[in-house]
Amino acid sequence: MSDTYDVIIIGAGAAGLMCAIEAGKRGRQVWLIDHMAKIAEKIRISGGGRCNFTNLYAGPQHYLSQNPHFCKSALKRYTPQDFIALVRKHAIAFHEKKSGQLFCDVSARQIIDMLLMEAQEAGVKLQTQVRINAIEAESGGYRVRTSLGDVCCAALVIATGGLSIPKIGATNFGYEIAKKFGLNVIKPRAALVPLIFDGTMLARCRLLSGLSCEAEVRCGKQTFSDGLLFTHRGLSGPVILQISSCWEEGKEIVVNLAPQQDVYERLIRQKQMQPRLHANNALMEILPKRLAQGICDEHACSGALSDLPNIRIAEIARACNDWHIRPIGTEGYRTAEVTLGGVDTRELSSQTMEARNQPGLFFVGEVVDVTGHLGGFNFQWAWSSGYAAGQSV
Ligand code: FDA
Repeated sequence: MSDTYDVIIIGAGAAGLMCAIEAGKRGRQVWLIDHMAKIAEKIRISGGGRCNFTNLYAGPQHYLSQNPHFCKSALKRYTPQDFIALVRKHAIAFHEKKSGQLFCDVSARQIIDMLLMEAQEAGVKLQTQVRINAIEAESGGYRVRTSLGDVCCAALVIATGGLSIPKIGATNFGYEIAKKFGLNVIKPRAALVPLIFDGTMLARCRLLSGLSCEAEVRCGKQTFSDGLLFTHRGLSGPVILQISSCWEEGKEIVVNLAPQQDVYERLIRQKQMQPRLHANNALMEILPKRLAQGICDEHACSGALSDLPNIRIAEIARACNDWHIRPIGTEGYRTAEVTLGGVDTRELSSQTMEARNQPGLFFVGEVVDVTGHLGGFNFQWAWSSGYAAGQSV
């Protein structure tokens, strides 16, 4: 093994692979290393095994960051269409599920195989199960002290991702390297993650566990509409994962379980037209049966609409259209799809992903403080940021 490379990339996930391919295509000698035996595990388990590999509409508005303009340049230079062209080149069949979300028809494994084939063609050397003991800056580059010995490079790319799902290889390595070289790190936080509750709310979730419905959920100024799922620990489903990225400890979220209906108006109208109709039956016309019954039980509204004063009807309606709840936390990194925060983008060039104060040191992918919404946006960031660095290393 040569002990000097043009580029060493630490982390063979989505962003590291893309960066390696692009650098290799430019004739750079690239060593791509990972501490795990199996690489790109997140691609394998993503999208329920079918990898939601991009989103047709990916744009800066789909990303959270302390520096919202940062992602623009990379996203513009490597777009969803560029990745789709690569997927087509490898004849991987795919489909749009909804709202621009593209999934493989068959398996996420195809995306991994495609990237590995591209990396091989680009001459990238890939090595798994490498432990990194230390990184030192030296004149003209970096010395990486690994379990295989010391290896030097002119450009070092950190692509070690965030903290989500430690059991498949996530570590805080990238943040520690950033700090070591004097870069600020925005405090990481689990995101795209189920929310948990206690007390009566938890009891209610347990009772309704497994039930799902369409909902609109608001936290502060952010609102998302999608499926909501009751679980044994609280709430999940795409709409909850989305809002979890905006939620912070102590904040409440507001759930509208019937976004297409003004439930108060509807029940008052029904009270006039069908006075003997029971409240639970009226609600079952707009909500799943168990949920409708649960709301009526909780508000002790079992009788006919005509027997309910309007003020009680307003209570039920609020439980449907304007349900204020306060999570006690999230399920954390064990189940989170991504990590918010990371290397402060004000410390990086948006053109190249290179650290401003540390020539030759690059950060790409999820380790950077750019976090996408649910729906293929996180992989697009991994491809785009990996590409940007790959053109420059
Ligand atoms: P990624 O985590 O992919 O790779 C980091 C690599 O670095 C890993 O191989 C790891 O082993 C290695 N590493 C870590 N520490 C190291 C160390 N100390 N030394 C050496 N190597 C080290 N996104 C999306 O757009 N569509 C989707 O469908 C999904 N679905 C999804 C499902 C689930 C269950 C999860 C957890 C996540 C998703 N995501 C997603 C998010 C997406 O997987 C994620 O944003 C990208 O994989 C990030 O790519 P990176 O390359 O930055 O990190």
